[in-house]
Amino acid sequence: MGFSNWYNRTLNRIWGFVEDRTSMKKWALRPQPEFTFKPSYWTGAFVVNAFLYQVVSGALLLLYYQPSTAPTLTACGQPVGAYSAAPAAWCSTYYILHSVPMGSLLLTSHLYGAYAMIFLMFVHFFRGYYLGVYKAPREFSWMVGTLLMILTLGMGFTGYLLPYTQLSYNATNVGIVLALRLPTIGPLLGPFILADGTAQGLLSRMFDAHVLLIPLGLAALLYAHIALFESHGIAPPATSDPTQRRRYNEKEDKSHVPFMPHIFWYITKWGLLYVGLLLGIAALWPWSLPTYVGNLAAAGVVTEPDWYFLWLFKFVDFQYVTPVLAIGVTTVLILYFLFLPYLDRSKRTHPRDRPFFIWLATSFLEFFVLMTVWGGETPGVQIAPMLVAETLGPLFLVTGIAVALFYWRYRRNYLKRLAARGTPFLGVYALPTAAPAAPVGASEVKSSE
Ligand code: HEM
Repeated sequence: MGFSNWYNRTLNRIWGFVEDRTSMKKWALRPQPEFTFKPSYWTGAFVVNAFLYQVVSGALLLLYYQPSTAPTLTACGQPVGAYSAAPAAWCSTYYILHSVPMGSLLLTSHLYGAYAMIFLMFVHFFRGYYLGVYKAPREFSWMVGTLLMILTLGMGFTGYLLPYTQLSYNATNVGIVLALRLPTIGPLLGPFILADGTAQGLLSRMFDAHVLLIPLGLAALLYAHIALFESHGIAPPATSDPTQRRRYNEKEDKSHVPFMPHIFWYITKWGLLYVGLLLGIAALWPWSLPTYVGNLAAAGVVTEPDWYFLWLFKFVDFQYVTPVLAIGVTTVLILYFLFLPYLDRSKRTHPRDRPFFIWLATSFLEFFVLMTVWGGETPGVQIAPMLVAETLGPLFLVTGIAVALFYWRYRRNYLKRLAARGTPFLGVYALPTAAPAAPVGASEVKSSE
């Protein structure tokens, strides 16, 4: 007892000293309501954790990686002759995997870390979509987020070429052909991506984009994203109440939990768990490097991108889907997500109030998963229109029916609960027009409302 008292007092004293000398309360992010101590509220912060790991591991990889297509003179650290024709980019990757101490762990965790960051970003995106966090006043947070998503996928695309394997080279070329078909932007992008038209020119551009240009863009957008988050405060739980206040005021902030040290350590705890898991998985399943570009002994390498682009890759396999059509559909999708806050105009954020938009998101999610699996199973195999209709048609239909049933059931239950309270809603039973000025907080805002 005596010891634990002394221990707590000492910790408090040290923390008080650090707080005083750094004035961290002034520059830390705003306090957050108690109910945010759940992982679901910090999905974006988990993406930041993943991004930070990528920056640190990528900086270490840069110590060894050589962005050159010229044949190496060092034979990748192997007996001379073994890989003497292999390009230096591939050889330096081989060297990291086989000769640098912990190099395999470093490179594998950077690769799996990229998958994890993209996966966590999709979780963050769909959580925001389903819970309607893009609604006023968070429209710009959402739009900046969509740009972050494009840049993050751009990091994956440009990084894929760097090990300079025949597999990554083929897939990058398919991606570039698609990108060049983008209306208006495509022809402008051409000279920028292809440089002088040589293989070295392309590798240099991809390298520059991967280690400098896109990370700078990501950092700038992330700053804007977090500044917007700071200005609005965290989105409260989804609700059917259109009058619920969507911003916290200074008075409410005073009763919230300070960001430093509580929220910071909460996020750091998850960050450490992430790094531990990532390193564990990378150590158990190290990545093995496919063969290099131009290896004549390795004919018939399949052209396949990483999993997050497989859906688009499979889409091009559909009969009658030309690259122009595929890129057109992708552009429409991006525009849809970008302007979603202005398409879904209702003020209610609860999924039960937005059946159409929930149906669209669920259908897209299913389409994405199905196409990814399909792309992985049958890369490059052409698919006839009838098979596409037979596979996707029932999927979208069943999703529509399921969403309609949920809508019908929960809406009825909700209306019944309101009726029991005597509150008319939408001409049947509605929430009071002048809502009581209840402060937004854990106890006041219930996700079931
Ligand atoms: C590199 C990718 C991204 C990073 C690093 C990131 C980071 C963050 C962070 C740290 C927050 C603060 C709250 C939280 O942790 O959830 C946040 C909130 C938010 N993000 Fe992202 N984000 C990314 C991508 C996206 C995308 C793709 C979207 C949607 C298109 C999006 C939309 C939002 C919105 C609307 C909020 C406010 C949510 C709230 O207040 O609960 N973000 N993001």
